Amino acid sequence: MPRSTQNRAPSAVPESAPRFAPALLAWWRRHGRHDLPWQHDRTPYRVWVSEIMLQQTQVATAIPYYARFMARFPSVQSLAAASIDEVLHHWSGLGYYARARNLHAAAAAMVREHGGRVPESFDALHALPGIGRSTAGAILALSLGQRHPILDGNVRRVLARWFGVDGVPTAKAVVDALWALSEAVTPGAQAAAFTQAIMDLGATLCTPREPRCADCPLAADCVALATERTDVLPTPRPGRARPRREVVWLVLRDGDEVRLEQRPARGIWGGLWGFPEFQALGEARDAARAHGVPARARGRRLEPVTHEFTHFTLVITPLLHDVAREARGPAPAGAQGETWYNSRRPAKLGLAAPVAALLASLARPA
Ligand code: ADE
Repeated sequence: MPRSTQNRAPSAVPESAPRFAPALLAWWRRHGRHDLPWQHDRTPYRVWVSEIMLQQTQVATAIPYYARFMARFPSVQSLAAASIDEVLHHWSGLGYYARARNLHAAAAAMVREHGGRVPESFDALHALPGIGRSTAGAILALSLGQRHPILDGNVRRVLARWFGVDGVPTAKAVVDALWALSEAVTPGAQAAAFTQAIMDLGATLCTPREPRCADCPLAADCVALATERTDVLPTPRPGRARPRREVVWLVLRDGDEVRLEQRPARGIWGGLWGFPEFQALGEARDAARAHGVPARARGRRLEPVTHEFTHFTLVITPLLHDVAREARGPAPAGAQGETWYNSRRPAKLGLAAPVAALLASLARPA
């Protein structure tokens, strides 16, 4: 049995490596996923969009977004020609909006530099915004059958368990070791099937909690299973308490309309539309005065909303003020990046999930 590695690359590829692909492929033909939307008409463009969407989004959540995105942006050209607002609108609710901005920027680069096509060379693809080493490999393997190893979160977990690799799988030495193992198990032929198969195994059997080892085609050689360490491999990151950040959102409402601003391009929800944000209630109240809210009006604090980011928890207190149309005044001349949003006739804007949720709750009769 191969011994586990201790935070370092294994000196040689374990002798079990050649048994990985045949067992996995035999399982996948019978039990893998063969009917996902991006598996039909597998062009590099369609696969690229799906891989970006699936980076931080579950398959079931992604499917309706993917259908709408593809209907509106069926080609590199149509995506490049669209406004970033419309692209973000189609991403609204999926989170991690840098993905959408990178898709748009990469489409523009494809039009400028690659004749409006997704480049078919690994280096050219990897050079584009938002396309890392694993994503570039997955796109070319899945759409064109090119042989490239991949290493997304699912594959890290499968390989760390199967080869018994200790160490946090984001540490450089461990990542290097896992890439070497991914390289070692990736077969020369059937690259598309193999790539989908290893993703499917990680998503359906070799899951983070309670993996279904009894059904696993790779159980016979799995180091984690043999050493009863499926629950501790891959090594979890050391726990870090997520810091909390508290903000106030100023909700100015005039009948069916509420005032939204476009957020700065950089920072969280960059480029999306939302409520003006403040660090404290007092600041939000001061800002409300500028929109015709009387000095005495305190506004109504709504139920706080929390939103979890990878690195912190955002606690949002909405402060609702009703404003009168006469008082709210016209938008300042040349004002950009502000709008009065009507939930009954919603404009196509990119909205972060908690903004959309708050708009929906405001539109419901109390
Ligand atoms: N996650 C990332 N890529 C995927 C794919 N092609 N199919 C299913 N889940 C995935």
